[in-house]
Formats: sequence, structure tokens, C-alpha cells
Amino acid sequence: MNKLVRRDFIKLMGIGAGTLTLSACRLIPPASLAPTTAPVNSTPFAAVPVSPSLAVDLTAGPATLPIFSGAKTSVWRYQASVREGSAESIQSLSGSYLGPIFRIERGQRVQVRLKNELPDPTIIHWHGLRIPEEMDGHPRYAIAPGASYEYDFQVINRAGMYWFHPHPHGLTGAQVYYGLAGLFIVSDEEEVPLGLPAGEYDLPLVIQDRTFDSNNQMVYLANGMMDQMIGFLGDTILVNSVPNAALDVKASAYRLRLLNGSNSRIYKLAWQDGTPLTVIATDGGLLEAPVTRDYITLAPGERVELWADFGRRTAGSEMRLVSLPFSGFSSGRGMMGGGMMAGSSIPNGAPFDIIRFKVGEKSAEVVPLPTNLATIMRHRVEDAVNRNNPRSFALATRGMIHTINGRVFEMDAVARDEIVRLGDLEIWEFANLEGGGGGMGMGMMNMEMPHPMHIHGVQFQVLGRQITRGYESASQELSAGFVDDGWKDTVLVLPGERVQVLVRFEDYAGTFLYHCHNLEHGDAGMMRNYNIEG
Ligand code: C2O
Ligand code: CU
Repeated sequence: MNKLVRRDFIKLMGIGAGTLTLSACRLIPPASLAPTTAPVNSTPFAAVPVSPSLAVDLTAGPATLPIFSGAKTSVWRYQASVREGSAESIQSLSGSYLGPIFRIERGQRVQVRLKNELPDPTIIHWHGLRIPEEMDGHPRYAIAPGASYEYDFQVINRAGMYWFHPHPHGLTGAQVYYGLAGLFIVSDEEEVPLGLPAGEYDLPLVIQDRTFDSNNQMVYLANGMMDQMIGFLGDTILVNSVPNAALDVKASAYRLRLLNGSNSRIYKLAWQDGTPLTVIATDGGLLEAPVTRDYITLAPGERVELWADFGRRTAGSEMRLVSLPFSGFSSGRGMMGGGMMAGSSIPNGAPFDIIRFKVGEKSAEVVPLPTNLATIMRHRVEDAVNRNNPRSFALATRGMIHTINGRVFEMDAVARDEIVRLGDLEIWEFANLEGGGGGMGMGMMNMEMPHPMHIHGVQFQVLGRQITRGYESASQELSAGFVDDGWKDTVLVLPGERVQVLVRFEDYAGTFLYHCHNLEHGDAGMMRNYNIEG
């Protein structure tokens, strides 16, 4: 890694990560706060702390930056400037194409003026946030080059790491690929007293894969149809846009906030020496209590937060976060999905290093891992309005087309089975049972593809998973790495698997999306609208 990049990397890894100072909490009803539409039924958020609002100008546009020595890399990136509110609320990831990081308190009003300086239409989706439809980045709100879009919403999510990225239809994969993505970290009054590692001990780490040409420029979809079918897989692994990432840490406890920001790659995360991973949070924030896993399966769009205690390591030692091998998705009948036909030199399932932590001196602070982290209001399956007849979504690949219940995305269409009622708790089932091939000729049939399914506008709870006989192999290698205990907004559905989630449409009526977060699948149409009717 060249020196400049290295220094910037360290800078972006948390130095300047200001500790949040929570202002005294006044409690007032959310209705009088909400900038646009008030949350309708906001249990368990009946009252939220008020804090100063934040107004930010965010420009999406081209830039160049040094990723390797030699030629700089052309990227697209967001640049933020605070118009009103605390400058500490926005941290830039200096030297990275990623960012910025929003640091927000629950209850805060956030206004963002997005300015499009890209050559193509764009719009931002705030992944995981519970906000109204017009704020959520539906592709029909995409703005032309030169145009602006005004976001104005109140953050009602619990503490957690959410993120944001472009969402113009058919262009999401490319825009994320060339660098557009940032983090949206929320803290709340339940999290603060835990005294979790903060400041330089709170490290957001975005894992991505890219392919670069000999002139250090990013190459997208070089394998044409194959990349679009499987999803893009790069041959260089980056953390916060840095290849061969390495980081000096103190012999102390860290909060590692991991986002799989890759277009389609699935990671099987582990410590190189087999130390179990301690998980404290998932997509929608803290778990009730820490859990351990030998490895973690992290699909595109998913987040997981680790408690990494380097305190017992000796100075000078090194811990590596790696991705373990798994046999891809070519088991049995299928042959695609990262198996032998993948175009990348690192197919899904190939092992590699992600980041090295070089342990230094002990720090004065000793922060113990809390035994209890948070209260999670559990949905009860008996309360689901469709408990006897779950709403089912069949995920399939027909020829080159990935479908949901046989359909692909249409900008405005909502089918009759895509309408839910505001306030209802439902069971949604994603059933990845059809390899496809229906009617297709030789060769391309029966593709087994994992699909990370994301629902906009909500956080949900995983009710259960079931694997179809004959499809056990991928599940045997990956399912022990799922962390399904907490709040989720994206859930990986393996080939041959049915995953049921409990989801309450509790906040805003409107049209929202649900889709596969393999960005090439989504761009190709594996995405649909659903309506929440108030
Ligand atoms: Cu992170 Cu609709 O996506
Ligand atoms: Cu998919």
C-alpha cells in the first residue's frame, strides 16, 4: 500500500470520529416534530428525543483519488458540506471514494440537498431508514444531471449502522460500483449508557470488491452477460476503498461496524486464527445480548457489528479478518452463481484476506463487553394478519431474467398481491426454490443463485428458514454464519431455501420497493413495488 493511501486510510478509520454529545432529551410527541408526514403508529417510538436539525449539501460527482501508487483512479463520490447544525454530524472518509458518514441521534431532523453532478440520473436511497416514500429514493424520483433533490425527514430508527447509495433504475450497480455509498450511523438513548467503544475505537468498515485495469481504473461488467447474470465479482478486495487494508490498533476493545457494500459478493467472515466472532448488532442495530459465531455470512447490503477485543493480544501481533472458502453455488444441478463459469479470478467462495489489524500498545481504557445490549420488541407470529397464509414471493431465474413471482420491475406497477395495510404485521416468505430453466435450452438451465432480499421502509425479524432436500450443501457451509436474532432489512435467501420474516408496516403509507440486493439482479429487474395503504 503506498504511503499516501495508508495515511489517509488511518485518518478515515476513525481519527476525527468525534464522540457524540447527546443533548438533554426533551420528550415531545413525534407528530409535532415530523418534517413531512408523522409516523402513524410509532410503537416502540412513541416519544423520541429532540435534537438539533442538520442540513447538508451533498453533491454526487466525479473525482480522482490515489488508490494505488501511480495513476489516480477516476471515481464517483459524494461530497458533503454542512449548511446548518453540528459539523461533527458529518465525517468524511478522507482518501476514500466512500462516504460521508452521517452521525445522527435518533429523533433528529435531517435535511439533505442532493445535487447531481453525474452524467446520468441519480437518487439516494437511505437503506434501512424508516422514512416516507418521497424520501426513500424510489427510482421514479431520480433527478437529471444538474438537478437537485431535497430530502427532509426525521430519524426514528433505533441506534445502528444504516447506509445510503444511489437507486436510479438500471444504474444502481454502476453508480455504487464507481464509488457512491456512504454510512448513516444512528445513536440513541438506549445505546449511550452502554459505553461501547467510541471515537477511534468505533470503526466503520465497508467491504467491497472491484476490478482495476493496468492503468488503475475500475472496470465494471467486463464479462458482459455472465457478470449480469451472476452479479459482478471483482478481483481486488477493498476496505473503505483501500486494497490490502491494514490498520494499527491498540490492544483494546473495538466496535467494528461492517457493511457488505459489494455489488454481489457474499463473504464468509472469520478471524484467521479461528477465534469466534462476537456479534453485537445487525442491520437494524444492537442485539439483545452479544452472540458468537465461528464465521459470519454477510451478503450485499447487510451489516454486522463486531466486538473485537485486541486487549489480550501481544503488541506486534496481527489479527486478520478473512473470508473463508465455501463451495460457491454450483452444487448439484447448478453450475453458475460463482462456480466454474464465473468470470472473476476470485469466484464467490474463494478465500482471501480482508483486513489486517496490527496490535500495538495497551490503551488506558478498558471497556468491558456488556452482557445485555438492548431490548428488542419481538413480533409474535400469532399477531400476523396472514399467519395462516404467508405472503409468498417466488424467486426464480428464467433464462437470463431474474423474477419475483414471475414478474420484473415496472416503475409504477403494483400487483394485487403487493398491497399491504398500514399497521399490519405480516409474514413474508421468500422462496428461492426454482433454479429456473423453464423453457430454456441446454446449458443455462437450473441456475442456483443466492438472493439477498431487501425491503424498503421497514425493519423486520427473521421467523425461520427451511432448506429443500437436495439443496443442503450451500446451507451447510453458510447457515451457521447467519445472525437472524435482531432487526434486519436485508436477508440472504440461499438456493433451495425459504426464509420467512415478520414485518410490520408501521410508519408511513406509500409505495416502497422490495428487491434483490445483488445489484446486477436488481438492475436487471429483480425488484418490485409494494403499496402500504393507509
Ligand atoms: Cu440498499 Cu433498494 O437498496
Ligand atoms: Cu438476486
